[in-house]
Amino acid sequence: MNKIPLATPHMSKEGYEQQYVKEAFDTNWIAPLGENVNKFEEGIAQYVGIKSAAAMSSGSAALHLALKLAGVKRGDIVFCQALTFSATINPALYEGAVPVFIDSEEETWNMDPRALEKAFEKYPETKIVIAVNLYGNPAKLEEIKSICDKHNAVLIEDAAESLGSTYKGKQTGTFGEYNAFSFNGNKIITTSGGGMLVSDDEEKIAKARFWSTQSKENVPYYLHKEIGYNYRLSNICAGVGRGQLKVLDERIAKKTAIYEMYKEALEPTNELTMIPVPEDSKPNHWLSAAIINDDKITPEYIINYLKEKNIEARRVWNPMQLQPIFAENDFIKVAEEDVSKMLFERGICLPSDTKMTEEEQRYVIEEIKRAINNTK
Ligand SMILES: Cc1ncc(COP(=O)(O)O)c(C=O)c1O
Repeated sequence: MNKIPLATPHMSKEGYEQQYVKEAFDTNWIAPLGENVNKFEEGIAQYVGIKSAAAMSSGSAALHLALKLAGVKRGDIVFCQALTFSATINPALYEGAVPVFIDSEEETWNMDPRALEKAFEKYPETKIVIAVNLYGNPAKLEEIKSICDKHNAVLIEDAAESLGSTYKGKQTGTFGEYNAFSFNGNKIITTSGGGMLVSDDEEKIAKARFWSTQSKENVPYYLHKEIGYNYRLSNICAGVGRGQLKVLDERIAKKTAIYEMYKEALEPTNELTMIPVPEDSKPNHWLSAAIINDDKITPEYIINYLKEKNIEARRVWNPMQLQPIFAENDFIKVAEEDVSKMLFERGICLPSDTKMTEEEQRYVIEEIKRAINNTK
């Protein structure tokens, strides 16, 4: 059996990506911007149903500029979901802001709106909230948004993992004032590396484009009044993205089938409980994550067992309140025990590669069952 990976790039069988990249070569539009960037931005905006999009060199760059658009200042508190990848919150540190972390709830694994309310009671002046849609699962975005509105705070959605997921029929990445997608290599579609900042505020997106190209003023010489960044996506990478966008629905369908096959095979026999599909949501199922029901069996044990069988599985994100870099930062929860810590300690991400065949997935399932049975 070949290695079964967690999630790898999956180009279209039609070769759309190569076609767009070739067009860039043929017109010598290798750099900096060009037709692929424009069309990729339009394509994403149209797909998710938002007015404006700016293609960035990474999801992290998109999040950084989202925070700047939200008006972050040195010393400001920023509320951020605790259970996430560090990339969600690093931009707040670049800007000298102070993250306060919000625990998850079990229904979505994302920011608990009750903990967010509690955080506003403690820090009523807070003006920025970053929610994340982990593993493609939408957070309780409407509730979170209305709490932000009540406190005059700007919501930023880190939709890096959730392109194509919907909540109450609306695409994720459209609930925040500013929202970020990632096209990193392991994401549901990839540009090898890249991201997109989206918003209904076209002027603000134009501002982000300006910052992302070194804040060069529109005069015939080099004039800078603001700090700038080299954050734009290249026309080559955008060509890959344009092609990938054509197969996004296909990828979501396959990821959903993968999730359902795990659920059918592993839940009735009580080995694992899959990450729940939240009410009113249609996740893209980017990664099929799960909880190991027997708390005497560690994720590490199963991951190492699967590794021996050439199968890649991973831990769930290690929440920010447990990270040494954030030892001094506040963490707000409502449950007695941290939900995010429990998800980290008992969670596992299973192979969710869209190139995985059903036969390969059956093999993965058998090996998970065997790993667990061996402990009995
Ligand atoms: C939740 C989350 N936020 C942000 C990022 C950062 O995206 P990028 O790797 O494109 O910078 C990622 C993925 O890498 C992510 O999973």
